[in-house]
Amino acid sequence: MQTRRLGQSAIEVPPIIFGGNVFGWTADRAMSFRLLDALVDAGLTSIDTADVYSAWVPGHAGGESETVIGEWLKARPGMRARVTLMTKVGLEIPGKGKGLSAAWIARSAEDSLKRLGTDVIDLYYAHKDDEAVAQEETARAFGTLVAAGKVRVLGASNVSAARLDSAMATSAALGLPRYEVMQPLCNLMERGIEAELVPACVKHGMAVAPYSALASGFLSGKYRSEADLGKSVRGARGAGKYLTPKGHAVLAALDAVAARADATPAQVAIAWLIAKPGITAALASATSLEQLAELVRAASLSLDAEAMTVLDAASA
Ligand SMILES: NC(=O)c1ccc[n+]([C@@H]2O[C@H](COP(=O)([O-])OP(=O)(O)OC[C@H]3O[C@@H](n4cnc5c(N)ncnc54)[C@H](OP(=O)(O)O)[C@@H]3O)[C@@H](O)[C@H]2O)c1
Repeated sequence: MQTRRLGQSAIEVPPIIFGGNVFGWTADRAMSFRLLDALVDAGLTSIDTADVYSAWVPGHAGGESETVIGEWLKARPGMRARVTLMTKVGLEIPGKGKGLSAAWIARSAEDSLKRLGTDVIDLYYAHKDDEAVAQEETARAFGTLVAAGKVRVLGASNVSAARLDSAMATSAALGLPRYEVMQPLCNLMERGIEAELVPACVKHGMAVAPYSALASGFLSGKYRSEADLGKSVRGARGAGKYLTPKGHAVLAALDAVAARADATPAQVAIAWLIAKPGITAALASATSLEQLAELVRAASLSLDAEAMTVLDAASA
């Protein structure tokens, strides 16, 4: 598996980072273990999660995904050294906390380390911008974690180019560790980052690792009508918003390119994303070994210029 560097850090990742919000949610513990074993076997050794996953599920408290990963690591001696663990802080965990204050970052990081059963988080993200807290306070809190050896590298998610610029200026002025990775939403249905955020990240020498590369499964082509939304939990949860004229045009372009490339629409959607300028890696998830096999093939699928043009036009 070829790898790409995360900004100016020493961390190298494959072009696909596995999205761990499925663990303990749409993949039960047994399926999660199978997926984790298989993705490491295939060389997809970077795993993304968050403190909040999957608090949105009735009866869940948040931390379910990290807990499954921690249990899997415990059951696989020596595995921790083979994987790159990425988690996040900042989205609200009902009844516990939210945001990017120093106190919540310190507490949530300890909780994540405990659930993951590890001494160090390889990449720790601010999950969402928090304008209620001074960027200096957040930078100092993250710097404390890095100085203590509890976090190796920092990242940011869901933040504007202007707020990224000021966060980078703040960490530089204080001599504190900077964000090396940006995790924004981007896929063939969501291209809002290309005008400002990607150029800002390139200017800062940061990696860009977009999430929801498959638009919650929509870009696999399995949802073509309202009736199809019942095929999966995610169909009902959000993929329906893409059943628009643009969505159908994107699926038609994916079908055409996939037929020509002897690939599937999901593979083509991911290959398009990781080929875009400034993009380092794509985050995608899977709930079965068959879906995972598709992700693995996407990591090495290269699209020709004509395919990129067709997809760019349909998704513009
Ligand atoms: N930073 C943030 O704010 C943020 C937000 C969202 C996500 N993320 C991260 O990004 C990761 C990926 O995003 P995502 O999980 O939202 O969605 P995604 O990668 O866009 O969609 C993945 C889902 O599509 C379905 N799927 C995958 N391959 C398929 C195939 N070949 N054929 C048919 N269906 C297929 C599966 O769901 P079903 O089998 O259930 O249909 C799978 O869980 C997350 O796991 C998380 O780590 C971050």
